[in-house]
Amino acid sequence: MEVLEAIRSRKSIRAFRPDPVPEHILIKLLGVATRAPSAVNLQPWEFFVVRGKALKEVKSAYLKDYRFGKLPDPDIPVGDTRDIAPVLKGVYKERQVTLAKQIFKIMGITKANKKKEWSEKMVQFYDAPAVIIVAVDNVLQSNWPILDVGLVTQNIALAAPEFGLSTCIMRAIVDYPKRLRKIVGIPESKRIMIGLAIGYPDWEHPITGIKTAREQIENIVTFVG
Ligand SMILES: Cc1cc2nc3c(=O)[nH]c(=O)nc-3n(C[C@H](O)[C@H](O)[C@H](O)COP(=O)(O)O)c2cc1C
Repeated sequence: MEVLEAIRSRKSIRAFRPDPVPEHILIKLLGVATRAPSAVNLQPWEFFVVRGKALKEVKSAYLKDYRFGKLPDPDIPVGDTRDIAPVLKGVYKERQVTLAKQIFKIMGITKANKKKEWSEKMVQFYDAPAVIIVAVDNVLQSNWPILDVGLVTQNIALAAPEFGLSTCIMRAIVDYPKRLRKIVGIPESKRIMIGLAIGYPDWEHPITGIKTAREQIENIVTFVG
């Protein structure tokens, strides 16, 4: 696939077929993704791929925490959309609301209890057959690795379709790091940065039809000189 086409067609997928993703495919995908640049070539990323019984355990623990009203406590201070959403203003608020409306319309969600149902789907990582967790060793104390992790994560998302796979980059996957450490075996010495739900997309599902809009480029570019 051409690079421009991969960038243009990438989108977050929130419905997956149950088919497992073979390890050798994930190894190839992650291998190519780590061609990402990183500050002073630190290559700070490490990956934990969670599938099968371990993924089931994580999902069940997350659902418990979510239903209990446990506040997300991610390793990196990204905040929680429940904190961010109420303070968003202007164009940012508009974009967030547009996405929510698109999802709710397609899913036929109108009432508060249905919204809860949707949030629970998120906490179940949209039933993806695998999730990838990106972690960084604590010896790397600076914030540079946050940018590097963003680049490798985007590479995973861009390269996935070459293998017939789709992704949803998800903060929700790293909301409860204590659970991940215990079930997945991620040591305290690693910062859990971000997760991706990954699997073969269920194109029959209407949610996969969503394509988010982008700002007119002229509105966000300033040429100087
Ligand atoms: C850092 C990051 C965290 C995200 N977390 C979530 C999440 O927890 N749940 C979710 O459904 N989507 C999540 N997304 C996906 C965004 O909602 C999505 O990228 C955005 O709406 C633009 O849509 P697109 O990816 O289809 O172009 C996340 C994306 C990023 C980059």
